[in-house]
Formats: sequence, C-alpha cells, structure tokens
Amino acid sequence: MVKILAFAGSARKDSFNKKLVKVAAQGASEKGAEVTVIDLVDFPMPLFNQDLEAAEGLPEKAREFKKLLIEHDGFLIASPEYNSAFSPLLKNSIDWASRVESDDEPGLLAYRGKYAGIMAASPGGLGGLRGLVFVRMLLNNLGITVIPEQHALGQAFNAFGDDGNLVDEKKRTSVMNIGAKLTEVIGKIKA
Ligand code: FNR
Repeated sequence: MVKILAFAGSARKDSFNKKLVKVAAQGASEKGAEVTVIDLVDFPMPLFNQDLEAAEGLPEKAREFKKLLIEHDGFLIASPEYNSAFSPLLKNSIDWASRVESDDEPGLLAYRGKYAGIMAASPGGLGGLRGLVFVRMLLNNLGITVIPEQHALGQAFNAFGDDGNLVDEKKRTSVMNIGAKLTEVIGKIKA
C-alpha cells in the first residue's frame, strides 16, 4: 500500500492551499493510496533555533511531524508563495524534521528516498509558480524525488466551489493527476 502524507504550508483557516492539497489527495486516494491529510496548525513549533534544540531537543510537535514523514512513502505539498518563495511555516516545519536525534539515526531520515508532488494556489495570476521553483529545489536537496507534474493555481478566489472542490474540470483533473502520478510512481518503486 502506497502511503502518502498531504499538507499545505499555510496556517490560514480558509487557506486556498489547504483546499488544493485535498484535491490532489483525492486523486491519490482514487489510485489506491492511503492518504493522510494533516494541517500544520496542529503541529505548532517554535521558530527553529539551534540553542533551543541543544537545550531541549526536538519539540514534541516537531517529533510527531517527523514521525509522520518517516511513516509515509511520499508527500503532497501545497505551498503558498510568500514573496516569490515558500512560506516560513513550511520551511520551519521541514527544518525541524530534518534534524538527527541520535548517533545511530541516518541523516534526513524523514526525506531521503521519498517522493513528492507539489502545487501552489494564489489570488495572483501566476498562482505561486515562482515559489514552486524553490519548493522543488528544497525538496530535491533533501533527497526527495519531486515528480514533474505540478500545478500553480491562479485567481484562487474564484477557483473553489462551496464543496471545496475546484470548479474548473480541467484544473481539477490536473491537480488530481499530481496525486495519481505520485501514487503510480511510488507503487512501481515498491512493487
Ligand atoms: C503573499 N502573497 C503572494 N502571492 C503571490 O502570488 N506571490 C507572492 O510573492 C506573494 N507574496 C506574499 C507575501 C506574504 C508575506 C503574504 C502574507 C502573502 C499572497 C498569497 O498568495 C495569499 O495570501 C494566499 O492566499 C496565501 O495562501 P493560502 O493561505 O490561501 O493558502
């Protein structure tokens, strides 16, 4: 069974990216993946500080988030674009979970050898496309293979219906396809 963890890099209650990642998650579920959708708001972590880490180790919520990453084969990540890059929430969460906790723990245990599908939503015309360049690079550098399929959803204010789904069928198919392809790729590797 392919296990996928899905989350958005936004804390906002009505986040477009939270909605977007659920559409991709649906695409993965329909291909047979076991998908866990989480909200990073449920994993509050202090801003990463190496002195804090040295004094107290990983905060409990960072350890919980890292454990979830370790337990899953792949990730669906919707990242808001903040000033043409990823959000601090996404980067902070990723940074905490990148830390080694004991001498016998391999480096980047949560990430290395994993797979990801990425997407972004924005009220602007480019849909967060510029930020996705950085998200892809960040994940690649952590040892994650990021599949080529991605979607940058512009004009996000009008994009979702009351049911939370994407109104435009082509866009819905494109976003669901990210989840489907990710499931397919991981499925082949695990077979
Ligand atoms: C933004 N926003 C934004 N949008 C964009 O398309 N390109 C950008 O560079 C930025 N920069 C930016 C910086 C900061 C600090 C904020 C708070 C916002 C707008 C952003 O896309 C918008 O707030 C989205 O709604 C954020 O995503 P969620 O929270 O809806 O998922």
